[in-house]
Amino acid sequence: MVVGRLTELDRVDAFLERVERHDGQALVIRGAAGIGKTVLLQRLLERSGPNVTALRVTGVETESELPFVGLSDLLTPVLEHRATLPAPQAAALAAAVALGPPAPGDRLAVCVAALAVLRAAAATRPVLVAVDDLHWLDAASRECVLYVARRAGGSLAVALAVRDPCGGWLEQARLPELTLGPLDRDDSVELLDRAFPDLAPSVAAEVCEAAAGNPLALVELAASLTPDQRRGMTDIELPIAPAGRLQEAFASRINELEASARRALLVLAAYDGDELPPVSAACVSVGTDVSHLADAEAHGLVRLAPGRISFSHPIVRGAAYHAAPPAERRRIHAALAGVLDGDRRVWHLAAATVGTNESVAAELEALAGRAAARRGYAAAAAALQRAAALSRGADVVAQRLLAAAQAAASAGDPDRALTLLEGVAEGGPRSERRRAQHLRGRMLIWRGRGTEGIEVLVREADDVKRDDRALGSAMLADAAIGAATINAHLQAEELARKALALLDNGEADAVRAAVLTMAGWVLVVRGKAAEARPILGTAAQLTRGLDPLGPDWPWLHLLLRARIGLGDFEPVQLESTALCERAREAAALGVLSGALLVAADVAFRLGDWEAAEQRTAEAIRTAGETGQPSLHGLALTTRSRLLAARGMEDESRAAALDALEIAEREQITAGLRHVHAALGFLALSAGRVEDAIAELEVVERLVRGRGIEEPTNVPWLPDMVEAYARAGRHEDARRALAMLAPQAASSDSPVAGAAMARCRGILETGFDQAFAEALALDDLRPMPFERARTLLALGRRLHRARRRSEARDRLREALAGFERLGATAWARQARDELRAAGGRRRQSADGLALTPQERRVAAAVRRGASNREIASELFLTPKTIEFHLRQIYRKLGVHSRPQLVAALSRPSADDQLR
Ligand SMILES: Nc1ncnc2c1ncn2[C@@H]1O[C@H](COP(=O)(O)OP(=O)(O)O)[C@@H](O)[C@H]1O
Ligand SMILES: [Mg+2]
Repeated sequence: MVVGRLTELDRVDAFLERVERHDGQALVIRGAAGIGKTVLLQRLLERSGPNVTALRVTGVETESELPFVGLSDLLTPVLEHRATLPAPQAAALAAAVALGPPAPGDRLAVCVAALAVLRAAAATRPVLVAVDDLHWLDAASRECVLYVARRAGGSLAVALAVRDPCGGWLEQARLPELTLGPLDRDDSVELLDRAFPDLAPSVAAEVCEAAAGNPLALVELAASLTPDQRRGMTDIELPIAPAGRLQEAFASRINELEASARRALLVLAAYDGDELPPVSAACVSVGTDVSHLADAEAHGLVRLAPGRISFSHPIVRGAAYHAAPPAERRRIHAALAGVLDGDRRVWHLAAATVGTNESVAAELEALAGRAAARRGYAAAAAALQRAAALSRGADVVAQRLLAAAQAAASAGDPDRALTLLEGVAEGGPRSERRRAQHLRGRMLIWRGRGTEGIEVLVREADDVKRDDRALGSAMLADAAIGAATINAHLQAEELARKALALLDNGEADAVRAAVLTMAGWVLVVRGKAAEARPILGTAAQLTRGLDPLGPDWPWLHLLLRARIGLGDFEPVQLESTALCERAREAAALGVLSGALLVAADVAFRLGDWEAAEQRTAEAIRTAGETGQPSLHGLALTTRSRLLAARGMEDESRAAALDALEIAEREQITAGLRHVHAALGFLALSAGRVEDAIAELEVVERLVRGRGIEEPTNVPWLPDMVEAYARAGRHEDARRALAMLAPQAASSDSPVAGAAMARCRGILETGFDQAFAEALALDDLRPMPFERARTLLALGRRLHRARRRSEARDRLREALAGFERLGATAWARQARDELRAAGGRRRQSADGLALTPQERRVAAAVRRGASNREIASELFLTPKTIEFHLRQIYRKLGVHSRPQLVAALSRPSADDQLR
């Protein structure tokens, strides 16, 4: 019986109703220990009817960290759906839940596979995933559950109960929450009255006072009174409840038990499960018997069920465990190790050990290897850390701590890696210390502490390079990338050159490829394309023989991105889409987000805007999930540009501002340039030239003196020339042109040359020649958007020179180009200029044909689907669907949805939808 909580119960009912309507959500129930989270979750499960498949698991506080145990328990009932997954995903999941051999790939492969299994199960009837005490689930399972929760929807609903306060991981997931506060006075009294009808009102008042609205405290404090006290015959002194004091209240109740019952209770507390047989066996070996737990049950501390036994509340477990002296706890862990096998045995063995013990440490190390093979990197880090603590000899300790730090880095936890590395710095052999410093430098850069990271790497490289040139070179290349993240590109070049000088041809391909890629990238940004080209060419060759999905390739997308700067769009397009496919198939999301970003960027440049739209959306999602803030920001700014050209101003700005927030939060100075350049392009697209100038001047300030000389990746200077010219500030426009000129000259592709020629055409008196050059260069590049911009700029100049008929021809051509792309914002500019030049719009059949995406949207509308449904079908946002609909309305000359449906139902419409 639930007392009070009316609004909360309404929320639970609404949640369930939506589950049954196949409109599931995620919900986090949070609050202090004992506040009533489990009660609500329980209620949710009881009320979910027979039409819902309920899957549940509860986290348990333990000494051990076993990867994916929680997930295996949760998914067991639906694992048969594994058969429907692509092979690599099925293998990843089988490995995680220990049903199959280890499989390579990144840790998110398991998340993707878990989600796919749940969705497959939900295809027949709604699935409700319920996780209680999520904070105690093993880290790998918790990550998976949050991944799934963020994607709840349709027939998949997720309810989680989490104790407050918990770490930042919950905030990051940004899920809908239901926070439980204290019960009010009346409800507290009613709850007491139901549980203890004999409680005197004056005593009840005192208990309410002490419990401060915490239901567990109410029940517990009242239960700890003697019958006389309950009836108000004897004075009482109650501890003030919540949190810590509540544990003490339980401890005193545990102390009332006989020694043998207490010991049996400790065995149960030390064991990380609720099955009776192992508890029973361990009890025997420490001279007690599990039957004594009946005593504990009588005291309301545990609940017995056939074959199972559990604590009445998780707090009791903590109280029972911590009430025992450490030596006694170790004895119990040793007994449990004696009756268990596998990884659990090893953890109990470790918990039973004091001081150092090489054989246990070695077992933990082996366990860590198994965990890592299942992608349980957090568990591997925990096991290695414990192994280090049990190791003798500075060398071994250092080795294990370094391995633990590497595992923590793989688990995406740079802060933990940094803490572990502190231990290595102190002792240990030189080679470990060096590798530790290398990792430390990388982690510092990862955490946005670029300056510190560079300092560590440079100092260490200086020391290392005499006897290990390869390591020295790799350290300097990492330092160069670090310098690029803080916009120190002159320093980046210097470091990259030093890295190149140390590299000799005898090194392993992987090392050489990494160093060459990073150095090549830095040179491209410095505007030294001709020098970078052969370096990147060699790097590309070296990567050919390597596994592109291996864990050492977080820089792979850099190789592709650098080649965008060289203008190699088509080969980069081919390679990046091929890489996307491989990465997606294997669910290697880390690699996937980098490849997607590149593929989206070239698709935008090459005029395949539908592909750009889908890829930016997917890149944003995966980069966010894999915790790659710099990629995440880049994906957002790329999308911002696309949406700006399409005239979706609000969405474009929102994407840029999200990227800004990431750049500021993660201290990625380089990201600011991308954001302001995108905002400048947005303003220019919308025809707000003064705003464009303001944003682009921010970019200019960010870039000044920083050594960024690359004109293609972030094309802000051509925009700036245009914005100044349109504002009538020709002097400033020429200043911007003077900055662009040397960059275009040293760039190794016609891309920057064409932009430069267009800018000259905008400014110079004899503009025909410059525009002719621009168009000739544009012809070498399949960049339809750039070409249409050149035509628009030319049309504007012709118009101003009163060559109206020529102007109209060029403007019509520009308009058709923008319309083909769906570059609404720019089409509007062309149309306005055309009208001003006296042109009527010529109906071009080409411009009015629906794009493939618009055809898909139109077909769905005809079927009667809502925007929301279409959005989820096509993996787009409802906003984007609205945008497509506006285009469709315009092209078909209709003004409402019913008109559209009518138009589409005409037999002649079939052509349009084909
Ligand atoms: N609204 C309520 N009405 C009746 N009993 C409650 C209520 N909320 C909590 N309790 C009782 O209080 C105790 C603690 O609740 P629980 O849900 O286990 O807390 P949590 O999961 O937040 O730690 C349980 O014995 C539970 O039955
Ligand atoms: Mg609970």
